[in-house]
Amino acid sequence: MNRNELARIAQAMVAKGKGILAADESTGTIRKRFDAIRLESTEEHRRSYRELLFTAPGAEEAISGVILYDETIRQKTRDGTPFPQYLTQHGMIPGIKVDMGAKPLAGFPGETITEGLDGLRERLVEYRSLGARFAKWRAVIDIADGIPTSFGIEANAHALARYAALCQENEIVPIVEPEVLMDGGHSIERCEEVTNATLNAVFNQLFGHRIYLEGMVLKPNMVISGKKASNRAPPAAVAEATLRTLKRHVPPAVPGIAFLSGGQSSAEATLHLSLMNRMSPLPWSLTFSYGRALQDTALKAWGGKPETYAAGQKEFARRARLNGLATAGRYSSEMESQAA
Ligand code: 13P
Repeated sequence: MNRNELARIAQAMVAKGKGILAADESTGTIRKRFDAIRLESTEEHRRSYRELLFTAPGAEEAISGVILYDETIRQKTRDGTPFPQYLTQHGMIPGIKVDMGAKPLAGFPGETITEGLDGLRERLVEYRSLGARFAKWRAVIDIADGIPTSFGIEANAHALARYAALCQENEIVPIVEPEVLMDGGHSIERCEEVTNATLNAVFNQLFGHRIYLEGMVLKPNMVISGKKASNRAPPAAVAEATLRTLKRHVPPAVPGIAFLSGGQSSAEATLHLSLMNRMSPLPWSLTFSYGRALQDTALKAWGGKPETYAAGQKEFARRARLNGLATAGRYSSEMESQAA
């Protein structure tokens, strides 16, 4: 393991003004996204949509890296350049989702465990040869009556740390993603309590597995009210609770934290990030690793039609730029209504 190289990549992933595009939707998830614009999920449609995002003029100024899916890392641009190569040439680091999804945790109704450790070492070797320099593994913690249990949290934290160790062994920076879901009607206080317990378990396991903290990126949820909560906490409260929680658990040796959007609207996710970045000094770089909050409006603007391809690219580049501003605390909600 070359520690300097791991630290160099991790720092580049969270460089000021930039963030990560999560474009690693599994075939099932991207089908749901395409359903919303009534586009059939063929391999060519998936390829051309990813090309739309990766080649959007101007987007690379605010995108440090892109998380790809197994199918996508093997695909090419229209003119035959493999996606990882295209991204690297344009200053965006290619990454890869390596988990095999959250499956029901036997004996623990309502909880899941993320699979994908068996054979992971060999898959990492192949992904590295295809150009990946970082990876992602998502653990899912749901909040409902009686869950999560501490056993469920511990099992997921353990798997995350084993994944991270295998990544670093293969000179791949692990994005460690423990996602406390915002589905449901729980309060922000309950989200804070569960996020505290989750991060506590995750960092304990990372220490136990001898993870090199300077060579990883944390991808957490924000501390936020459940989507169906009757009285949702305002943006300033989300920013405050999220920072309070992270400061209690994430050592300054970790170079950066890149949030998931988790079902927040695009504007909400950008505002929360910007508010947090105004609350300096911060011990780590705070940025985005959004999927939906970067793509939803672009997907709608494109609508799957050739004549609106450029409109989709323009909208994606706009969202990337606004989030880039948010990493410096320079975004404000009024910017949403300004022309692209
Ligand atoms: P969302 O930002 O849409 O939550 O996706 C980010 C991600 O990569 C989830 O694993």
